[in-house]
Amino acid sequence: MLTHPVGSASCHPRAPESPFLVIYPERVRANFHALHAAMPAARIRFAVKASPVPELIRALDEEGAEFDVASIGEIELCLALGVEPDTLCYGNPIKKAADIARAYALGVRRFAFDTEDDLLRIVEHAPGSEVECRFLASAPESRTPFGTKFGCTPGEAFRLLVRARDLGLIVGGPYFHVGSQQLDPNAWRIGIEQAGRITEALADKDIHIRSVNIGGGLPIAYADPAPGVAEIAAVIDAAVTEFLPETAELVVEPGRALVGSAGIIHAEVVGVRIAPDARRWVYLDIGRYNGMAETENEYIAYRFVTDRDGDPVDEAVVAGPTCDGDDVLYQRTRVLLPTTLRAGDRIQILDTGAYTASYSSVSFNGFPPLTVHVSGAERE
Ligand SMILES: Cc1ncc(COP(=O)(O)O)c(C=O)c1O
Repeated sequence: MLTHPVGSASCHPRAPESPFLVIYPERVRANFHALHAAMPAARIRFAVKASPVPELIRALDEEGAEFDVASIGEIELCLALGVEPDTLCYGNPIKKAADIARAYALGVRRFAFDTEDDLLRIVEHAPGSEVECRFLASAPESRTPFGTKFGCTPGEAFRLLVRARDLGLIVGGPYFHVGSQQLDPNAWRIGIEQAGRITEALADKDIHIRSVNIGGGLPIAYADPAPGVAEIAAVIDAAVTEFLPETAELVVEPGRALVGSAGIIHAEVVGVRIAPDARRWVYLDIGRYNGMAETENEYIAYRFVTDRDGDPVDEAVVAGPTCDGDDVLYQRTRVLLPTTLRAGDRIQILDTGAYTASYSSVSFNGFPPLTVHVSGAERE
């Protein structure tokens, strides 16, 4: 495996210290092509937060992606890599006036919002920009749900987009996100129908939207199966034909679907013991705080590969290395691991390209953040 750490051009002479994440940019390109083939008319906007790795941003920029950025840090990262500011959308509805002003000064002209306060801040600090208003779609819960943290009611989205036009902004259009790792294709149909109603009401006010942003949420298969991109795209296509005007462009904003399958975490078993409750605990050198944040509530069930695969297996509780009682990856999810597993054994955690390294804490309990290595090879 030829890898080099992110931010460094030098090749790594030997396996890096465990744990580490290997990212395969060629897989990201393949995922981009597959999504583009399934939704040829859609603008694809990569949610940088899923994996802010320079090599991936460069690769996706070359492929023609746009970028959803959540902070000044992500904006500066993209710009430093040569991404044009007009391909960026500051999509986080939670931002300070100073952040909007800084983004505008850096050339960003597209923003998402979901409150009147944020709209007024955009009017003041990013005049003339294009805006997308995020509403809370009545979609079923996803595996890692946002709850009601983001999005106004559809009625409020209509009112705020009229106000945006009246205050001199360019109306992009309605925007929704059905929640990350959304397993029900019908969720997008529900959101698109609601976006269509907002669009119709806007047309009555002589406001003709440019786009409908159908967010991220496209799932990948982890230990559990997930509907494929073609199946979801067919549902989206039918809903777009039924509910949206032909002139509206479709924007899709994936994170996980582009980068999730493009990463493998390499970790190590630190210890195995039978706890007083008679359950077998397997402790890894990676846990909730250095990359496995999405095991919170056991939302995402990752797949493990060990050097002892093929030996008899039994159930295990899988835990991280810190002294924190919450640093347990799985205790309700049924995880089967070889009974022969021992301290020092290597373990791979598959499809860990999304929301792992970027979630890793700076140094909780003194454990360093997850390092990332970029591979020039194809992922098997
Ligand atoms: C604003 C926004 N857009 C897009 C995404 C990407 O979502 P996903 O990784 O589910 O595709 C997220 C994820 O949190 C988000 O917050």
